[in-house]
Amino acid sequence: MDLTARVAMVTGGSSGIGRAVCLRLAQAGARVVIGYRGNRDGADTTAQAIRDKGWPEPATVRVDVTDAEDTQRVFGHVVRANGKLDILVNNAGVGQPSAVVPMNPVGEWAASVETNLLGTLHCIKASSLHMLVARSGSIVNISSIAGRVGIPGLSSYCASKAGIEGMTRALSREFAPYDVRVNAVAPGYTADTGMVDRIDDKRLREFLDRIAMKRLADAHEVANAVAFLASDEASYITGHTLVVDGGLTA
Ligand SMILES: NC(=O)c1ccc[n+]([C@@H]2O[C@H](COP(=O)([O-])OP(=O)(O)OC[C@H]3O[C@@H](n4cnc5c(N)ncnc54)[C@H](OP(=O)(O)O)[C@@H]3O)[C@@H](O)[C@H]2O)c1
Repeated sequence: MDLTARVAMVTGGSSGIGRAVCLRLAQAGARVVIGYRGNRDGADTTAQAIRDKGWPEPATVRVDVTDAEDTQRVFGHVVRANGKLDILVNNAGVGQPSAVVPMNPVGEWAASVETNLLGTLHCIKASSLHMLVARSGSIVNISSIAGRVGIPGLSSYCASKAGIEGMTRALSREFAPYDVRVNAVAPGYTADTGMVDRIDDKRLREFLDRIAMKRLADAHEVANAVAFLASDEASYITGHTLVVDGGLTA
């Protein structure tokens, strides 16, 4: 995969899957803008790892994807600074198991929808006009197996990720006339990431049992799928969700 001279923005690049995606896109030659919300040190660590490899010089930028105005401002800055935006990876996400629905305050339930679904929308709104005018671009949204199978205690997370996949399909049709592709990657449980680190050992063992390949994903395996969809190798693929789950949903 060759992403030489492409400019890529990755939200949530300060840890986990987002960091692996930043590294993989940079390895393929892209200039990566690493988005973070609170973990500036994490974003700097991602940037340093790219510099250590001698890949194109990255940038870091603070953006809270739940804030539509902040997102518009930051993306405007990114496009002005780089002259364009070729690739957007909507990776920023939250997901915490919570109380069963009758006991779960709506505000708490809505929090993951606000970050995962509306946050993705804000980033697409803030960047897609530039892509549509340029008649070129690739957007990759990070979904989850939770967008396809139900997980008790995670109904809001499941709804947010199913929403991302529906939005991916709809926007792929809106944007196709302008040569902008919109796809998603749905990872399974991925090692050394914030989300899996928050799952207790007993529950994680139960999940492992359901994975055909009997192991967690490595974040670079998810990042490979993202880089593929972002690249011209996937030039005839749009509206698709690529599941990277070791056979969990097979
Ligand atoms: N880990 C898994 O097994 C797994 C499986 C399926 C899908 N996913 C999806 O993959 C993505 C990454 O997961 P992960 O486990 O790697 O995450 P993680 O390590 O917990 O990191 C989450 C990232 O999202 C950022 N973020 C959270 N809220 C944000 C906001 N309002 N604005 C901007 N950035 C925000 C965080 O930024 P700061 O830390 O800088 O605040 C951080 O970089 C998520 O969309 C998740 O749903 C993960």
